[in-house]
Amino acid sequence: MKRTIGLYGLGVMGQSLALNMLAHEIDIAVYNVDAAITADFVANKAKEAYPVTACFSLEIFLMSLKRPRKIFLMISAGKAVDEVMQQLLPFLEAGDMIMDGGNSFYRDTMRRCDLLKEKGIYYFGVGVSGGEMGALYGPSMMPAGDKNVYETYLAPIFERIAAKTEADHCCCAYIGENGAGHYVKMVHNGIEYADIQIICEAYQLMKEVAGMSIQQIQRVFTSWNKGKLRSYLIEITADILLVVDEKTKKPLVEMILDTAGQKGTGKWASMDGLDMGVPIPTIAESVFARTLSAHKHERQVLAELYPRKVLEPLPSEDWIQQLEAAVYAAKICSYAQGFALLREASTKHEWNLNLAEIALLWKSGCIIRADFLDDISKALREQSSYINLMATSYFQMELRNCMPSWRTIVVDSIRFGIYSPALTSALQYFDGYTSLVLPANLLQAQRDYFGAHTYQRLDDPANDCHTDWQKELVLFT
Ligand code: 6PG
Repeated sequence: MKRTIGLYGLGVMGQSLALNMLAHEIDIAVYNVDAAITADFVANKAKEAYPVTACFSLEIFLMSLKRPRKIFLMISAGKAVDEVMQQLLPFLEAGDMIMDGGNSFYRDTMRRCDLLKEKGIYYFGVGVSGGEMGALYGPSMMPAGDKNVYETYLAPIFERIAAKTEADHCCCAYIGENGAGHYVKMVHNGIEYADIQIICEAYQLMKEVAGMSIQQIQRVFTSWNKGKLRSYLIEITADILLVVDEKTKKPLVEMILDTAGQKGTGKWASMDGLDMGVPIPTIAESVFARTLSAHKHERQVLAELYPRKVLEPLPSEDWIQQLEAAVYAAKICSYAQGFALLREASTKHEWNLNLAEIALLWKSGCIIRADFLDDISKALREQSSYINLMATSYFQMELRNCMPSWRTIVVDSIRFGIYSPALTSALQYFDGYTSLVLPANLLQAQRDYFGAHTYQRLDDPANDCHTDWQKELVLFT
């Protein structure tokens, strides 16, 4: 009996996605390089499941699939994807489809699409978010590639297994051509970095500025999860703060080394912002914050050289409310950055991205799922000419309301010497974008002075000017 779809790669995510498909009565064939894992999967986790064929060779794997064959790769991004593609190629024929569900770099996906296109094979870069639980119970899915082929063969499968919102909106929709799906997933991750960093800064400010205990902070996150900040990341933060370390009886979080890891998607997003000239400082600062945290030894030496003056803590109900507003405003501005990046990439690559729909794709199943994505989607739909999320009428109102609190919190963080690059850079992003005049006039003059890089005059912006600054200086004095 030939199967509807083949799943290559039975790591944690692959197994979860396979079980999700089986739970939705999608018959599958599975293959993993390590045959023991395949055998164990079908004998145990998938034992009672809908028909699954365990394959122990690539040839059998491909033979067990209905034509045109659909092969979903759930393997590590990078070289492994190219290697597996090369192994699959001799067995593939025109019309077959390969879907890459890993966190691949979108440019690799574009290259792979082109490569397989020559052979009549369809390649889909599918952003999949939600971790193990998402993959199992419904991830947010961001598929891209040939639209007709997607709609005919893949939509019926993907839309069945993807997450649904409370309003029953499916968190899987066609994104665009070639690398668009992996691009959108990369931006999702950039925003995820910013979201996480903002929460971590709030946690540290509550500890060090307000002198609160972990139990008190836990209660604050629990209450925030009932308001505008309601989201998966706030919810898991409240959960994390409840866990006690068996050994020391302290909150487990306090026993974790403060050096952050990262796999590169936030860095790619930041690099793309730099490449395309789109300012995304909060996303980039969140990547740097992880990098800086990892330099633990240097931090230890410098912390001793510059001991921090301990100030009187500022615990008060009001201050916590101000912090909530600051976190919310910084979150709005970091999403504004992510959507600005998407918009620019959409134009550059002619992807025709539907930003309002993308906001809804992230409403459930993924790591950044949050109630306020509904507000973003609505604000984007209502805006006829989109400039920036901050310019939409709903978020104008929200940012204006948060502004005094946000400034207070940033000032407090600076006064207490607390590293809070996400909260601060988001406010700076706001201040920069709402500035009619910036000192870039002086900057241009300096560039022209030392390198004859030219500048444009206010009263003649279309033409390049150059001044012999030293000569003028002599004449003037
Ligand atoms: C998701 C996540 C996931 C990502 C992890 C770890 O949407 O499910 O974004 O794809 O790999 O969050 O990323 P870092 O190791 O870079 O933090």
